[in-house]
Amino acid sequence: MPQDVAALRQTLSIAPVIPVIVLDDVEKARPLAEALVAGGLRVLEVTLRTPNALRVIEEMAKVEGAIVGSGTVRTPLQMGHSVDAGCQFMVSPGASPRLLEAAEAHAIPLLPGIGTPTEAMTASEHGYSFLKFFPAEALGGAKVLKAYASPLSDITFCPTGGIDLEKAKTYLSLPNVICVGGSWVMPADAIEASDWARIESLSRDAAALKS
Ligand code: 3PG
Repeated sequence: MPQDVAALRQTLSIAPVIPVIVLDDVEKARPLAEALVAGGLRVLEVTLRTPNALRVIEEMAKVEGAIVGSGTVRTPLQMGHSVDAGCQFMVSPGASPRLLEAAEAHAIPLLPGIGTPTEAMTASEHGYSFLKFFPAEALGGAKVLKAYASPLSDITFCPTGGIDLEKAKTYLSLPNVICVGGSWVMPADAIEASDWARIESLSRDAAALKS
């Protein structure tokens, strides 16, 4: 089936911010997910950019309250791996027709990425109305999505890329933004130092934002 809009809307409505996680250390997967969930960010995107990413997903999926998806999904094979690892959704930086069609064979929804109106319209023609706007800040930020709101009024976005707490507020004030993605809630040095309290605190600030 085309994009399961009801399932995605439900998932993307749970928290205003989706942490975008790049992690290879499987030992840190559970405490990191626990800190994010404790701070109120329950929807977690684990990018398939590290050798152990699928094992990280498996560990994070065991954390009570966590809803774990895969990110940086670029091939149909990665979709199968994502489902097998226990993902509940998938995210891609792009929206190639091959990827959009491959996602139809899977029970979990795909949030594909777009950067232009033409890409958004192409994804829409394939039945996708929830899209990631990537890389959000490099493409012009919230003012671009504001400009999309009227001509692409049936499309809802999750901007990702270069967003921090302040910028997130601006995006979340737009009618066509359901949530934002970002990595600012888990600075690399905090993960390195296993400073879970700091990550929980940053997550709490992010979770307090309203869409
Ligand atoms: C990414 O692909 O890494 C995400 O867009 C996260 O971006 P950020 O690190 O700029 O928040």
